[in-house]
Parts: sequence; C-alpha cells; structure tokens
Amino acid sequence: MGQGCVAEGLSGNVADGKKLFKKCKSCHSIISDDGIAIEKGGKAGPNLWGLSGRVSGTTSYRYGSSIVKAGEAGLVWEKEDFVEYVVNPKAFLVAKLKDRSARSKMSYKLKKASDAINIWAYLVSHGSNK
Ligand code: HEC
Repeated sequence: MGQGCVAEGLSGNVADGKKLFKKCKSCHSIISDDGIAIEKGGKAGPNLWGLSGRVSGTTSYRYGSSIVKAGEAGLVWEKEDFVEYVVNPKAFLVAKLKDRSARSKMSYKLKKASDAINIWAYLVSHGSNK
C-alpha cells in the first residue's frame, strides 16, 4: 500500500487497534503458535492469533456450525470479510452461506467498521497465516 493518510486510513492504525481490542478481550485471546500470550483474554471465543489467511472456524475452539460451513465453502479471513463479520456476525454468515437460518455464536457486534479496520491492523501486526 502507498504512502500518506489515504493509505493509512485503509490499512488501519495498530495502536488504536490495540486499544480497541479491549472490546474483544472478554471473549478472545491472542496466543501465538509458540504459546506466547500477546493478549490474555476470555475463552468464550477462539484464539485470534494469525487470523489473516486463516480458514474460518478452524482452531481447536468448538464453533457453531455456520462458521465452520463458511470455512468449508472457502472463507479465508481477509480484511473486508473480517470488517463485515465483526459489525454483524449473524448477518455476515447469512449472506455468505445464502442461508437465512445461519447462526453465529458471537453475539457481540462492533458498532463502527472503522474500528474493525484498526483492530485488523493490530491483529495482522502479530503475524498471519499467509
Ligand atoms: C461476548 C463474547 C465475544 C466478544 C466480545 C467478541 N467475540 Fe468474536 N467470537 C465470539 C464467539 C463465541 C465466536 C465463535 C463464533 C461461532 O462459532 O459462530 C467468535 C468468533 C470470532 C471470529 C471468527 C474466528 C475464526 O476462528 O473463524 C472473529 C474473527 C472474531 N470473533 C472477532 C472478534 C473481534 C475482532 C471482537 C472485538 C471487536 C470480538 N470478536 C468480540 C465471541 C465474542
């Protein structure tokens, strides 16, 4: 990505993302493959380490069936899908699977897409699966 404030807006701000991760931390940790706890959070949701490039619903966490199906259908976490997901997980899965009965175990909805972009930048700063 290029230089300047436009590119910065698109790529998100890591420091802001770290602060915003507090919203996710009650349910999510970030623990590296080596076992290093970058964020020691709750266990209600899956580990978010290496999310970029990861197939949805594929950690050792017990997911709901819809997000696993989405992964089987080819959903790999990238910024655009991530932003859409965190602002409304259920609506995202309904649209992805084209199935109105799709459900999400994540009840939380982030209010602002711009916050999601910053959180993405923070997550990616710890590594990706690409
Ligand atoms: C109240 C608890 C809770 C909060 C708060 C929460 N989540 Fe989740 N999250 C979950 C649960 C539960 C799942 C598993 C969803 C499923 O199985 O359908 C999940 C799944 C996810 C996934 C899919 C991961 C994968 O392995 O495919 C992502 C990405 C995600 N959450 C991001 C976030 C982000 C970013 C935030 C903060 C803005 C957040 N979540 C806040 C509970 C939460």
